[in-house]
Amino acid sequence: MELPHTATNSINTKPCVAPPQHSKKELCDHDYSQDPPRILSNYLVHAPKPFNAEPHLPLLINAGHITPTDVFFKRNHGPIPDIRLEDHRLYIGIQQYTQASQGQLGPVEWKVLNMNDIMTKWPKATIAASLQCAGNRREGLAQVKEVKGVIWKAGTISNAVWSGPRLCDILQSVAGVPGDLHHGMIRNFHVSFEADDHVKEDACYGSSIPLRKAMDPLGDVILAYEMNGKLLTRDHGYPLRVIVPGYIGARSVKFLQKIVVQPQESNSFFQKLDYKILPPWIDASNVDSAWDSAPSLGEMNVQCVICTPMDKEVILSSKPITVKGYAISGGGRAIYRVELSVDGGATWEPVDKIEQTPDKVSGMYWAWALWEKKVPKISTTSQLVVRAYDSSGNMQPEFPIWNYRGVMNNAWFRVSNVTQMPQSYM
Ligand code: MTE
Repeated sequence: MELPHTATNSINTKPCVAPPQHSKKELCDHDYSQDPPRILSNYLVHAPKPFNAEPHLPLLINAGHITPTDVFFKRNHGPIPDIRLEDHRLYIGIQQYTQASQGQLGPVEWKVLNMNDIMTKWPKATIAASLQCAGNRREGLAQVKEVKGVIWKAGTISNAVWSGPRLCDILQSVAGVPGDLHHGMIRNFHVSFEADDHVKEDACYGSSIPLRKAMDPLGDVILAYEMNGKLLTRDHGYPLRVIVPGYIGARSVKFLQKIVVQPQESNSFFQKLDYKILPPWIDASNVDSAWDSAPSLGEMNVQCVICTPMDKEVILSSKPITVKGYAISGGGRAIYRVELSVDGGATWEPVDKIEQTPDKVSGMYWAWALWEKKVPKISTTSQLVVRAYDSSGNMQPEFPIWNYRGVMNNAWFRVSNVTQMPQSYM
């Protein structure tokens, strides 16, 4: 039985010396020979090394609310590390600080946990949450102007059930972070994550989130060791990953090895020099001086996509067509309305059905909404367009808003040139 979520009292963990340090490796040192097998026919593979692939949209939507692990999109920046569960250690560091000395910082004090600790010492939470890469639909921005990054279509999103202890419980009992952050400078701290992998951009993959998100008992940030009821697969972060519901996928660090509670954001490439919406006048020529002024991305924006039919699809049937897709927003906000147009956005109708379930404990909407609408007939000249609204009234823009990294494209989603004809035509 799943234990209720309760703040655990202090748990004895061994103090330790500083954890192993990664150093940046030359690209030619990266060895992909130990990467796991995948069902390649499920995916549009953008790059084999590192493996970056999105499921075909009809497969993704027809797989239903919970995406099977071998259909779930896969986003990597390096080879998949080959980690043994028994050998894996999670190092937790807290930057020492005292209010009495006007917020002066001391050294980082380290504690270490093994996987048995993580799997048995805290209540296990189970959260259904969608992960979406900030680069989902980058293709739409690449059509406006050149962008940097993998040219993802609209399948860089999936939904799974994740299980593991809550980060707030672990930080409270291992690192002594107070449950109530109202007082003291720690409320503005961050929690940085580092992985046990090798990537070309930095010494390892890393990222951070604000401490207030990590400590929010309704924020549902967990250290997951299970996905869809089984141990994580290597592609999805075995043996341990962070799941930060409501945030861009980049913050859900896989192969988690190190957590530090610190006054500033992570210094990782992926926090400081990536995953930011740069202004439209920034491109490859002047990007170097622009990173610091743009905030790191956290919560997702409101998004909606038609998964079936697809562009240029030929449908052999004279019956009404069921148009299907997904919608999601960040920060636990619900999808409030989805509208479909069959005439390129001139007129709109609400979809017939939207299915989205809040988390049963926090009441937050971390998992996507699946929607559908029956359309009597689609003609080759009709353009299908979809747009969603979230519970805060956020809407999608009509046209893509270009940015150099090609992130957070949530323009109205369009499907064109669908041909519907009776089967007898063939
Ligand atoms: N964690 C590590 N260690 N290495 C990575 O390359 N990619 C990030 C995040 N965590 C990444 C990582 C990005 S950009 C995304 S979108 C998600 O993992 C993708 O998770 P998935 O591969 O399980 O779908």
